[in-house]
Amino acid sequence: MFMKALEGIRVLDLTHAMAGPICTMFLGAMGAEVIKIEPPWGEMTRMFPPLVKGVSPYFAFLDRNKKGVTLNLKHPKGLDMFKEMVKKSDVVVENFWPGTMDVLGLGWETLRELNPGIIFASISGFGQTGPWSNRRSFDPIAQAASGYMWLMKDSIDPEGPPHQAPEAIADTIPGFSALIGILAALVHRSKTGRGQRIDVAQMDAMIAVSPSFSFWTLARTTFKRAVSGYGVRVSGCHKAKDGYVMFSLPPGRITDWFRELIGMEELTWDAVAAWVAERTVDKVVELLVKAGIPVAPVHDLDDVLANEQARAREMFVKVEHPVLGETTLPGFPIKFSETKGDMTTPAPLLGQHNVEVYSALLGLSEDEVEALRKEGVI
Ligand SMILES: CC(C)(COP(=O)(O)OP(=O)(O)OC[C@H]1O[C@@H](n2cnc3c(N)ncnc32)[C@H](O)[C@@H]1OP(=O)(O)O)[C@@H](O)C(=O)NCCC(=O)NCCS
Repeated sequence: MFMKALEGIRVLDLTHAMAGPICTMFLGAMGAEVIKIEPPWGEMTRMFPPLVKGVSPYFAFLDRNKKGVTLNLKHPKGLDMFKEMVKKSDVVVENFWPGTMDVLGLGWETLRELNPGIIFASISGFGQTGPWSNRRSFDPIAQAASGYMWLMKDSIDPEGPPHQAPEAIADTIPGFSALIGILAALVHRSKTGRGQRIDVAQMDAMIAVSPSFSFWTLARTTFKRAVSGYGVRVSGCHKAKDGYVMFSLPPGRITDWFRELIGMEELTWDAVAAWVAERTVDKVVELLVKAGIPVAPVHDLDDVLANEQARAREMFVKVEHPVLGETTLPGFPIKFSETKGDMTTPAPLLGQHNVEVYSALLGLSEDEVEALRKEGVI
């Protein structure tokens, strides 16, 4: 029987949208008890379209591995209940716009007074300090502000309009930055007993992982421009008989293997394109894989869902959802030797675990929980 690495860690999850929920989903997958606390009217992502049987695919994906409770933090009783739970928890995570926690009466000074071991992580667009700190943000705002939309345009068409990446990477990268911060803070706490405040900004996290700033400040170029001038210019996406195939040819032995394979000393884009165009995707992939050249078919999402490698790595899991029934969702990508990660607990219905959590943590009876519901506290 495998253990999970974060068993015994309790997380109070006040997050919404994506940047926060993706962080807490991974904490839950690694065994933390994540209690997602929503206002009684539910967080915004529950309504993100298209609703399938009333459930958002976004919420169903992002809020797995969590227990769901409702709590009105603007009600004095709700606030007291939260404070009691802080005393019994290890981590608080939120991604409201800066200042919201202070206005609610749940700022860092209050939380650490309640529990000196608490780790309090905030994710926001621009951070808790600085001239832009009071601005609201979503992924596209951070993609724009961090230079990422400009980089997309520069790599697609330098003369064209800015482009946004199709997935919310300016949520996932900040979410994972907060995740790393929380894990490091847990290690630090295990040595000192002290918790700490973690402040992650979407814009900062995007800047931090972008090598183009190094290319730009040192050589006035970008990562993509530099790579396209590096090595053999036939690397890239080529059209085969029945689809597209991508391969990478850095200078050196990999390119030599490719020259040998296709029997061409002088590699030109047109000659390579013609060689690929005569073959199917499967054939090109088979030949290049055999020759040791990095290559992949350009998959659509159905291809990925059916892919033998993704399946061998259990990257799609069956999740039994109380309303949707059996769903297929992405699995856990970190393969540990000693512990286990798991993404198969469905996202909670609104307030699904109210009785379970409030009786376990606050000693409330079912009737008391029901009375709180009627009073608008939960
Ligand atoms: C995403 C964002 C733009 C949404 O802004 P918003 O609609 O004003 O939503 P917020 O969640 O910040 O605040 C909503 C209100 O609900 C309240 N609220 C939230 N949870 C509550 C609860 N459990 N009980 C009672 N009230 C609650 C907040 O106190 C706030 O009240 P206010 O209007 O009096 O200030 C903003 O939260 C933000 O910029 N977050 C940081 C960046 C980020 O993570 N963005 C999302 C990326 S996916």
